[in-house]
Amino acid sequence: MSCDPAARPTVLIVDDTPEMVEILVAPLSHRHEIIFATSGRRALELMETSLPDLILLDINMPEISGLDLCRSLKNNPATKEIPVIFLTGCSDSEEVVKGFEIGAVDYVTKPFRPNEVLARVTTHLQLRQAVQVVETANTALEAARQVVLLQKDELTDQNSRLKTRVIQQAAVIRSKLEEAQCQHAQTRKIGDEFVQMLTDILEQRHHLLGKHSRSVAALAASMAATLGLPEEQCEVVRNAALLHDIGLICMPDRVIMYQGVLSSDDFVKYRNHPVRGQEIISIMDELQSIGILIRHHHEEYAGSGYPDGLTGKWIPLGSRIIHLASFIDDAYSLENGIDAKYKVAKRLASGMGTLFDPELSAAANLAVKNILIPPLAQPIDTGPKGPRY
Ligand SMILES: [Fe+2]
Repeated sequence: MSCDPAARPTVLIVDDTPEMVEILVAPLSHRHEIIFATSGRRALELMETSLPDLILLDINMPEISGLDLCRSLKNNPATKEIPVIFLTGCSDSEEVVKGFEIGAVDYVTKPFRPNEVLARVTTHLQLRQAVQVVETANTALEAARQVVLLQKDELTDQNSRLKTRVIQQAAVIRSKLEEAQCQHAQTRKIGDEFVQMLTDILEQRHHLLGKHSRSVAALAASMAATLGLPEEQCEVVRNAALLHDIGLICMPDRVIMYQGVLSSDDFVKYRNHPVRGQEIISIMDELQSIGILIRHHHEEYAGSGYPDGLTGKWIPLGSRIIHLASFIDDAYSLENGIDAKYKVAKRLASGMGTLFDPELSAAANLAVKNILIPPLAQPIDTGPKGPRY
């Protein structure tokens, strides 16, 4: 049966009495397509080519009775859903009960009342149509459910594959990270060993060089921490301070332990020690950052330092710190008495803005305040004697 409201449903009338068929056709033909058969056998033949939407079926017929024909239709998957309304006489009540038992949906009794027949046919056709609509909707819902289930299975598979890939990639990344960390740790260890080796050489070259370097390293590390530099950067500053005069190991003793004013040749050699220091430390690529701080540890804030005459913030912060630390150690080594720190602080103040970065003044004064090392008898690396500071 078509769900198209405009389509006319087909009603099959099966009755062995032509007069009865004729009576039924009259009320139904306005709204329905009517086909009829005067025997059960003829009805079955008709339904081989076209199925009706509803059947009006006489119970009492020769050869194949209405009950037998109805039972046959209900056992056939192609016809079992077609509603069957029995046509019966008033005395056939037991037959009607049997008809309901085998699948009929209703009955009308003879003599027929046209309006009753039309009402019952219309009602059952509408019921059939409603059932078909529901069945169609259920079929569509089931199809949609199957699609969703398939998509869900596919998404589950995709998620599973994605999860596996993420886990594998994470394992690879973790492995590479561990390898990189291992290499980094190994490189750092080699760098630390190299710094230690150069420190030992510095100590062996002259014990005052070693002592000065350790003092400057302690002062510079303290100032870097006061300024809030990250731990790794503090370590770079400390190592650069420890080796800031490593370039002096190439110089003759008279330059290292100069007394009085240097000759012009020695002065040139002396001024080259920051560059030589950078060259020595930069043998290891990983220590380039230390080398840069060493190169500029004699730059002065106003630009009168060497080797490059940098000014202000163009001088690396670590170099500005080491410059201050070296000055403090040298100045303190020259002072004696209880007011030694006061005198050093006073000299520091006079150099702020010209020799030193004034923004480092507070950190420098704190370093002087906390200084623990005793003054030395002989200064190291204050630059050419006298005119420097
Ligand atoms: Fe120096």
